[in-house]
Amino acid sequence: MSALAPGRLRPNSLRLGVNIDHVATIRNARGGDHPDPVRAAEIVASVGGDGITAHLREDRRHIRDEDLARIQAATSLPLNLEMAATDEMLAIALKHRPHAACIVPERREERTTEGGLDAAGQHNRLAPIVARLSDAGIRVSLFIAPEARQIEAAMKLGAPVVELHTGEYAHATGEARAVELKRIADMAALAARNGIEPHAGHGLTYDNVQAIAAIPQLAELNIGHYLIGEAIFTGLEAAVRRMRELMDEAR
Ligand code: PXP
Repeated sequence: MSALAPGRLRPNSLRLGVNIDHVATIRNARGGDHPDPVRAAEIVASVGGDGITAHLREDRRHIRDEDLARIQAATSLPLNLEMAATDEMLAIALKHRPHAACIVPERREERTTEGGLDAAGQHNRLAPIVARLSDAGIRVSLFIAPEARQIEAAMKLGAPVVELHTGEYAHATGEARAVELKRIADMAALAARNGIEPHAGHGLTYDNVQAIAAIPQLAELNIGHYLIGEAIFTGLEAAVRRMRELMDEAR
């Protein structure tokens, strides 16, 4: 089973989940209702994006509670809710029942999700949350660093999906980038060998996406900040189309 909608899949294709958080960041800067992340979701749906990703943070700095239902009502694209492993977020996920929930680490003072979830060190905290989400039919993904011990922890937790954090890769240069790329490729293969569907995301751009998209086991990329930034210059439709083209070329 795929994490995103069946029927939209092209053979050998890699799904693109568009993270629309930063449309809400701009909206919230002025406190009104423009630009509306729902309009962004509709555009993503109309240009062949495969899913919508949104992170409801504890401080509600971008997506807000009421956005979730509006996004779900506005498009038939599957919603991937990024959430911290807290009781509050679990209750919200169970109420909204998104297609997928990606559990991320969250620190209030961070600018973005800076590292992967310590699935290995937090088994006891994560296990009931993964179980409750799974029992509700929500596909659980764990946002982890590309490390074997985290994949092993995801297996123990029974998570069907891991999203490999590509931030280190995106920020590295030269030889260090090649090392990071190999780590991601090796861990995507390890996950897939063990029946876990690997996804990837964070810091992906037109310039760095293709090496990641070429990793054959990856089933989905989640991309946000760069796409919304590009959308300022070219429009969201063109930005999503271009990312889609680059991903398809790499396969
Ligand atoms: N995947 C996850 C789990 C994330 O937390 C984020 C950032 O919110 C992304 C993907 C998208 O990262 P970016 O905005 O850098 O493309």
